[in-house]
Amino acid sequence: MKKVEIKPDIHWVGGIDWDLREFHGYLTQRGSTYNAYLIQDEKTVLIDTVKHYLFDEMVDRISELVDPGDIDIIVSNHVEMDHSGSLPKIKELCPNAKIITSTMGEKGLKRHYKADWDMQVVQSGDTLNIGKRTLHFVHTPMVHWPDNMVTYSPEDSILFSNDAFGQHIATSERFDDELCFDILREEAAKYYANIVLPYGDQVKKAMDGLGGLDMDTICPSHGIIWRAHMADILAEYGKWCTSTTEDRALIVYDTMWGSTEKMARSLQSGLEEAGVPTALRNLHSSHISDVMTDVLTSRIVCIGSPTLNNGMLPTVGAFLTYLKGLRPKDRVGFAFGSYGWGGQSPKEINAVLEDLKWQLPVDPKKLQYIPDNDELDGMKEIGRSLREYL
Ligand code: FEO
Repeated sequence: MKKVEIKPDIHWVGGIDWDLREFHGYLTQRGSTYNAYLIQDEKTVLIDTVKHYLFDEMVDRISELVDPGDIDIIVSNHVEMDHSGSLPKIKELCPNAKIITSTMGEKGLKRHYKADWDMQVVQSGDTLNIGKRTLHFVHTPMVHWPDNMVTYSPEDSILFSNDAFGQHIATSERFDDELCFDILREEAAKYYANIVLPYGDQVKKAMDGLGGLDMDTICPSHGIIWRAHMADILAEYGKWCTSTTEDRALIVYDTMWGSTEKMARSLQSGLEEAGVPTALRNLHSSHISDVMTDVLTSRIVCIGSPTLNNGMLPTVGAFLTYLKGLRPKDRVGFAFGSYGWGGQSPKEINAVLEDLKWQLPVDPKKLQYIPDNDELDGMKEIGRSLREYL
């Protein structure tokens, strides 16, 4: 695939990672891209780079437009190595290029690469004239690292948003109007749920700050470029960053001999009888990064584990560790599980949900060995009763 024109003198020159299936613990079933952009003005500007192993791909695309040695400025919006990994090699091709980055970006790049590069630190609101254009830089700390910033070109109405609005998807299409929006939305939601979720307050602040900008195109650092569905993705981010969920439930569980699964299915029947769409995810077969996409949109989240060795099953423990790190807010929770003796797991799950400050209207429920019909009816009743918390 060749470089792709976004607007006159602005091209996508990134790399496509078709085979990527895992990104620090996040399943990327559709692969990903690392988006770099080249602006040709009086100065030639490269915005971000690609993972180190896609360097040649990026350079081939740049070389269709300019000699890489003619790059004057590299904007490093974010230190994480999927975007800075090719900086050392590209700097060898354009040793005189100045790197523009944030204060934390400069510190991060020095720690990563130990190189004596010419770097210019920009503060939020700083601008840089590159000819016909004046680039604006806005710091977006913790979206999703402390160093993050975005770059805005008012002359082109383009926001180079780095990780914000990204999706892990490898395609030969580059624009949102060339693919099904529902797939893009799902991938953007998964990205938000697994990468950005803990920083909702910072996302809201960044969105408020960027809200007044005249933009018709958002160029993120992963996935497709938004131009037809910009209002849609901004609206989705507006919901996600304020913990606005849907009237639906999620039941996440694992099971040893099927009893906790029976409890989960009865709970689901009760919720559905009360008119609540309810997803059932067994952690034995569902990956935690996919389950998090359901957590993002579900108001009610029920979590079940049988008791094993005085505690919960390791799959449920791993999920709760991941959930605690991502810190979704404002959910209604419920913990349950079967047991033979002891029966500690529902209380342990409940303690994690208490830490998350979720609303917990029903006490944790444990049932011994194999639940009978009356006990399963009780689980159904709990499901029906959760309806009132929507
Ligand atoms: Fe796509 Fe935070 O890196």
